[in-house]
Amino acid sequence: MERPYRPQPPQGEPHIIAHRGISAKAPENTLAAFSMAASTEGIDMIELDVRLSLDEEVVVFHDRSLQRTTTGNGIVRRYTLQEIKQFDAGSWFHPSFSHERVPTLVEVLNLVRGRLLVNIEIKSDLFHREPKGLLETKVLQVVEECGMLDQVLISSFDHQLIARLKHICPHVQTGTLYNLYRDFTKTPSDIALRADAAAFICAKHEITRSMVNDAQRHRIAVYVYTLDSIRDAEKIRALGVDGIMSNRADDIVPVRRSASSAESLEHQR
Ligand code: G3P
Ligand code: MG
Repeated sequence: MERPYRPQPPQGEPHIIAHRGISAKAPENTLAAFSMAASTEGIDMIELDVRLSLDEEVVVFHDRSLQRTTTGNGIVRRYTLQEIKQFDAGSWFHPSFSHERVPTLVEVLNLVRGRLLVNIEIKSDLFHREPKGLLETKVLQVVEECGMLDQVLISSFDHQLIARLKHICPHVQTGTLYNLYRDFTKTPSDIALRADAAAFICAKHEITRSMVNDAQRHRIAVYVYTLDSIRDAEKIRALGVDGIMSNRADDIVPVRRSASSAESLEHQR
């Protein structure tokens, strides 16, 4: 297989990626936030976070615990899917979203299939180590069942998990997330190539021009999160990155135009 993978956004511009959906305007990681992204022209991809429930269903959820974004309490992994589905996952954001529930990965993939690419970030819990292979196998099973292997990029801060996943399924595109405290001595190519990953993903305050240069020399795609203003997104676009993740992806779409028109848009705000 030709490697590494490099996405081809329109006219060489970066992919615009809705981080946890349009999470500034709807509760993060819910069908409402992903539907909003799917109906916005110019958004190419959604990013979402996945974990396992007690009965080993893949659920789309960011935190280890239910508290912040649902009416539930305690660790997600200790509840069955049926129990998790009882909780309201929208009211914390706004009462009008009280009908939102924690979605499964299957539900989200079915919602966006053919409309958006999906960056699936696998949350690997330091306090609860899953048996080797369990998380990545479950996620792959869902993606394959949904027929979306060629429409996903699977990433994680856990690079060993990503290496194992790529070994199990050489055709899937993968990304390694940068952890400044753990990885600061390493280059993007050190990190991505070691895990056989096609993409390197880091935060906006972590990216430097030399990191982008290193990644480009090795044909590794670079994604940066989370840029929530046109001005910030434009600065990162100018580095020549391949993807820009935003909680306000709908507002960031115009960054694909020239720097000057993006700036004039910013001035109109
Ligand atoms: O995948 C990029 C980003 O989502 C990683 O951090 O905490 O927002 O999942 P977090
Ligand atoms: Mg994430």
